[in-house]
Amino acid sequence: MTTNEVLIFDTTLRDGEQSPGATMTHAEKLEIAELLDEMGVNIIEAGFPIASEGDFNAVTEISKRSKSATICGLARANYKDIDRCWEAVKHAAFPRIHTFIGTSELHRAIPNLTMDEMAERIHDTVTHARNLCDNVQWSPMDATRTEWDYLCRTVEIAIKAGATTINVPDTVGYTAPAESADLISRLIQTVPGADEIIFATHCHNDLGMATANSLAAVAGGARQIECTINGLGERAGNTALEEVVMALKVRSDIMPFTTRIDTTKIMNISRRVATVSGFAVQFNKAIVGKNAFAHESGIHQDGMLKNAETFEIMRPEDVGLKETSIVMGKHSGRAALRSKLKELGYDLADNQLNDVFVRFKALADRKKEVFEDDLI
Ligand code: KIV
Ligand code: ZN
Repeated sequence: MTTNEVLIFDTTLRDGEQSPGATMTHAEKLEIAELLDEMGVNIIEAGFPIASEGDFNAVTEISKRSKSATICGLARANYKDIDRCWEAVKHAAFPRIHTFIGTSELHRAIPNLTMDEMAERIHDTVTHARNLCDNVQWSPMDATRTEWDYLCRTVEIAIKAGATTINVPDTVGYTAPAESADLISRLIQTVPGADEIIFATHCHNDLGMATANSLAAVAGGARQIECTINGLGERAGNTALEEVVMALKVRSDIMPFTTRIDTTKIMNISRRVATVSGFAVQFNKAIVGKNAFAHESGIHQDGMLKNAETFEIMRPEDVGLKETSIVMGKHSGRAALRSKLKELGYDLADNQLNDVFVRFKALADRKKEVFEDDLI
């Protein structure tokens, strides 16, 4: 597929919810799905319908309520899983079945299938899924540790059986950016029929490279990124939606790709996912952390007050924040103090400001943050 649009596939409600302790209630899942749809996510992986009655009901209800997003459910490589998945997603205006099997040597050992037996299973299950639904995604789990020849063979079988998207998961967060780009581009060049379908990238963050690996995969030809809000997900998490989307927006000069995400909705959904999952966002998390648009040091505050571009590459409004926050603390300087006091209605002469500045520094040495009430 030669297009510059990158599809955003959000799996907060499936891979994200799989992280220990992140369980969400039925109502919370519906709310998050609605926010994702409104934000412009192309595909929402709403759950794993065979996993539980609750997952089945959530995927069914999300499908019924969906507007423009495709609703996808996960299914292992067997007819029972696939049928259950279809029962749930069939209500969506745009349904998708996502079926997968672990193709690496380590993963083949679990169901104890030979390479040939697994190849046959892939053919049969993808064919079955495609007979139910026009939109079928297939994933060779642990693709980045699967033998190259076998990976090509299985991808070719899935495409011939009717898969419309091939997702290439880095299940254990093992790959690195150059390798990620290379893997996708070689698959597209090697596998017959690859240019007719969409390749997706699905990265985990075990080595902290999920965002870089996803963007590299796009450079290699992937046109769907699988990700979660706040990078929620198993172990160290999945690729963070807000990071890949903002990276593509801010660095369109070197990554000429578009998404249809309304980035001004990022902050709100990030906060909702943090609340309902119980996974707080670290302060210095890219894009959505409390400190991502906050400045305390005097030099930075002075620069920001003169020209925001001095120390910010994104505008807070672009991610749905009202403004940059100037945090008053022991590293703050006179310019920030003057500006803060002015905001509070105190227009001080130089000698008054000097006096307040000395008292402010003394207080800041004792407190982490000096609040407006302290200044008043
Ligand atoms: O990480 C992974 O391999 C997965 C698959 C089910 C796509 O989440
Ligand atoms: Zn995953």
